[in-house]
Amino acid sequence: MTEKSELQEEVEELKKQRNAVLLVHNYQIPEVQDLADFMGDSLGLSQRAAETDAEVIVFCGVHFMAQTAKIICPDKTVLMPDPHAGCPMADMITPETLLDFKAQHPGAPVVAYVNTTAEVKAECDLCCTSANSVRVVESLDEDSVIFVPDRFLGLWTASQVQKELILWGGFCPTHAALTPETVREVQAEHPDAAFICHPECRPEVTALADAVLSTGGMGKFATETEAREVIVGTEEGMVYRLQQDNPDKRFYALPGMVCPNMKRTTAEKVLRSLRDMEHEIVVPPEIADRAREPIERMLALG
Ligand code: 13P
Ligand code: SF4
Repeated sequence: MTEKSELQEEVEELKKQRNAVLLVHNYQIPEVQDLADFMGDSLGLSQRAAETDAEVIVFCGVHFMAQTAKIICPDKTVLMPDPHAGCPMADMITPETLLDFKAQHPGAPVVAYVNTTAEVKAECDLCCTSANSVRVVESLDEDSVIFVPDRFLGLWTASQVQKELILWGGFCPTHAALTPETVREVQAEHPDAAFICHPECRPEVTALADAVLSTGGMGKFATETEAREVIVGTEEGMVYRLQQDNPDKRFYALPGMVCPNMKRTTAEKVLRSLRDMEHEIVVPPEIADRAREPIERMLALG
């Protein structure tokens, strides 16, 4: 085991004093990953938030993830080390634009990717993540389902179910920038490598993949695969995680796969967050109460 740094020891001490837990998304920078009590994808982190006995949750990820934790755990203090870490995709739909869209498709239930604001979730029937979008859509009785905001996750989900998905035009700027040409170039450098990618990628990219997976699913794939090398079609932070967990295999990032918002959180900001109890996530109770229902319906699906 490597020796703990002074900062790591201070964080450990403050966590004990505050009765805090550190939940860290798979895209965080290595120094922050190394501080984690639990790492995971959006689904795993919200399940962890729901289960924890800690009084304080320090959420290292982006705003909608911390907000989801606060909605599930209204009595806990949820902190974000950098409150400006947002998700541009989540800002591509508002409650007003969603209500207009719903009016155009009466009777269709709304599934919202968890990458949405609390105000948007409050207008939805069910939430999903990239780990469970197929199961969530299949759980509905209706044949036509509105799916927001990620068009590419929606297209991938639609390819896996026998339903019509009515899609919004949102996208992740990081994943949507990945082209099949780039994938093929990296595949040419590593001809024996498997290729996995996130469903936020374009259909031309998911078509090339051996498996299309949430970041949690990628963790499982990396451990179970016979392949000794894997090209990872998602944010580069994932590669550090996979390499740590599977030192006998090789993982390759793809050029340009960086989410600037995920990189805003640093180990120093985590320390400051615990020391000064900043920056607290607040969700107005009238919004939180309505947004909780679609999240809890998703969590109840397992
Ligand atoms: P996961 O839920 O797969 O971790 O994805 C979250 C996300 O924001 C992907 O860009
Ligand atoms: Fe949002 Fe894309 Fe960053 Fe995920 S990678 S948090 S979808 S901007």
